[in-house]
Amino acid sequence: MTAAIEVMRHHRSIRKFTEQALSDEQREAIMASAQAASSSSFLQASTVIRVTDPELRTKVMALCGNQAYIGSAAEFWVFCADFHRHLQWVPEAKTGFAEQLLIGAIDTALMGQNALTAAESLGLGGVFIGAVRNQPFELCDLLALPKGVIPLFGLCLGYPDQDPELKPRLPTSLMFCENRYPARVDEEQMQRYDEQVQEYYRTRTGGNKDMSWTGQIGETLAKEARPFMLEFLHRQGFCLR
Ligand SMILES: Cc1cc2nc3c(=O)[nH]c(=O)nc-3n(C[C@H](O)[C@H](O)[C@H](O)COP(=O)(O)O)c2cc1C
Repeated sequence: MTAAIEVMRHHRSIRKFTEQALSDEQREAIMASAQAASSSSFLQASTVIRVTDPELRTKVMALCGNQAYIGSAAEFWVFCADFHRHLQWVPEAKTGFAEQLLIGAIDTALMGQNALTAAESLGLGGVFIGAVRNQPFELCDLLALPKGVIPLFGLCLGYPDQDPELKPRLPTSLMFCENRYPARVDEEQMQRYDEQVQEYYRTRTGGNKDMSWTGQIGETLAKEARPFMLEFLHRQGFCLR
């Protein structure tokens, strides 16, 4: 196996950090790795806001469900899809298409994953923060995000102060198939995976959480998440047509 594969296969989210800061060299290497990600039609439809002002960080944390590691991580970056830049350089550009939301989200996600993998390869750790979409109107005001820009996810980075277990993924044969979509789910495999996830949570939480994977997705998908999202996208000039 290569060193890159080793790093990727040992990913787990880190939510507890030491106080040690990243060096400029580390930060620049992570940024360069993020920027090296592929980009749809070379649109480079992303902007990353590094939140360094402690007061601002506290306010951002409050908008993101007060997740403590947003405040304690050495770095907190907000990854945004960005078509504002294109409109500034080429004012006649046509934007607002649903497809462009996908382009912005995909480009930015690829950057984010490159950033985290680069950080992990340096012995650092991190966790993505989808909660930047909890109160997106307020976050836009706080970070001065103009029309054409939407926050997609945050990324906490720092030196790990914990060593969590790897979280078991679905069996590869369920997530990868050949030539066509499988006619039905392999129930036996699902059952085994449910047990594996339940065991993982039991061990990780000392018995406090006793949830299978299907139990978890049942809870998560029982209701609409962030019901204001379409209105927010429209206000920011996304998904208008
Ligand atoms: C887009 C995205 C948003 C996420 N948002 C949060 C978050 O707000 N808070 C958090 O603690 N973890 C968050 N996570 C981390 C996931 O919970 C985690 O990746 C998943 O449970 C798998 O665990 P692992 O990363 O340790 O393998 C997010 C992950 C992704 C990809």
